[in-house]
Amino acid sequence: MTPKRIALLIGILAVLVVAWFVLAPPRFWLNMTKAVTPDATTGAQLVEQYECRACHRIAGEGAFKAPSLDGVTSRSDDPVHVTLRLWLRDPRAVKGDTAMPNFRLSDSEIEAILMYLIETNQSQ
Ligand code: HEC
Repeated sequence: MTPKRIALLIGILAVLVVAWFVLAPPRFWLNMTKAVTPDATTGAQLVEQYECRACHRIAGEGAFKAPSLDGVTSRSDDPVHVTLRLWLRDPRAVKGDTAMPNFRLSDSEIEAILMYLIETNQSQ
């Protein structure tokens, strides 16, 4: 292989890797670049940042385009909220044709949002 071909090959590989990380970021990458403190205060900020209330009602505020999340953590009989986490991680994995976007949340962001939802559900 000529040096030119090697350079071209490396270029193509670089483009593919960038496309992969942008279009379908692997979890280790999300967890590294979007690491947050997993507490309810951070969760409240993330709910603002990702504009969850454009669709959901949360803590008595927000739209009704999607199910209200008030009481969502006490509605299920799963004490560790496996399905709720999956909703946050990959909505289409739970329901293939859902209107909920995949926000590419890191694990700590998911924990923070869950903590916030649990907190708002308790204070009602
Ligand atoms: C574009 C509208 C939209 C946005 C924005 C949105 N969601 Fe959703 N979400 C939905 C819809 C619609 C559903 C119900 C799933 C279905 O039936 O398709 C849902 C379902 C859920 C569920 C599962 C509810 C249950 O009863 O089990 C959770 C939890 C949730 N969303 C959290 C969030 C959080 C947190 C955010 C912000 C990071 C968010 N959603 C942003 C539309 C949205």
